Amino acid sequence: MAKQRTNQNQRSASSRAKTSSENENGNEQQMDNDLHKLFLDELGDIYNAEQQLTKALPKMVKAARTSELQEAFQGHLDETRKQVTRLEQVAKSVEEKLEPHTCEAMKGLIEEAEELMEDNEDSSALDAALIAAAQKVEHYEIATYGTLIAWARQMGHDEAVDLLEETLQEEKAADEKLMSISESANQEGQREQTRSK
Ligand SMILES: [Fe+2]
Ligand SMILES: [Fe+2]
Repeated sequence: MAKQRTNQNQRSASSRAKTSSENENGNEQQMDNDLHKLFLDELGDIYNAEQQLTKALPKMVKAARTSELQEAFQGHLDETRKQVTRLEQVAKSVEEKLEPHTCEAMKGLIEEAEELMEDNEDSSALDAALIAAAQKVEHYEIATYGTLIAWARQMGHDEAVDLLEETLQEEKAADEKLMSISESANQEGQREQTRSK
């Protein structure tokens, strides 16, 4: 009798184990599907953000006072155009098509940049304002690409990881370049102040 109970217990324990592993597989698959969907969504978002930037950067090139900043913006505009194409390659590498939708965050950042340009049109701090606006954009992009890379890695999309990593490095380099232009502009400003005293 006691033996029979043990067998019954063992049977029910093993059937419980099977059910829970089936559930785990189902959950894992669901999580993969959901992450894939989220990845595509975010990809469409940054695709639109980069496209918005290809329209905004030429205005910043025109507005910048120093040739150094103009060249930095122009260089990053060329890179940004290539990043748009690279995102199409990312989608292709996971056998998907991009579904662009307006990136409201980038729209807001660009609107702020335009306001700053208008408000500081005659200010000696115009370049400083432009750099501040551009760095906000770069930081948004760095955060987005960092996330996309982590998700792509998690799903084993190696080609997508490599492509996105290439763009992330360009965004980081652009941010550092802006930082160094801003630092040298500040030092120059301080030297001028000392000379005029
Ligand atoms: Fe970009
Ligand atoms: Fe960028």
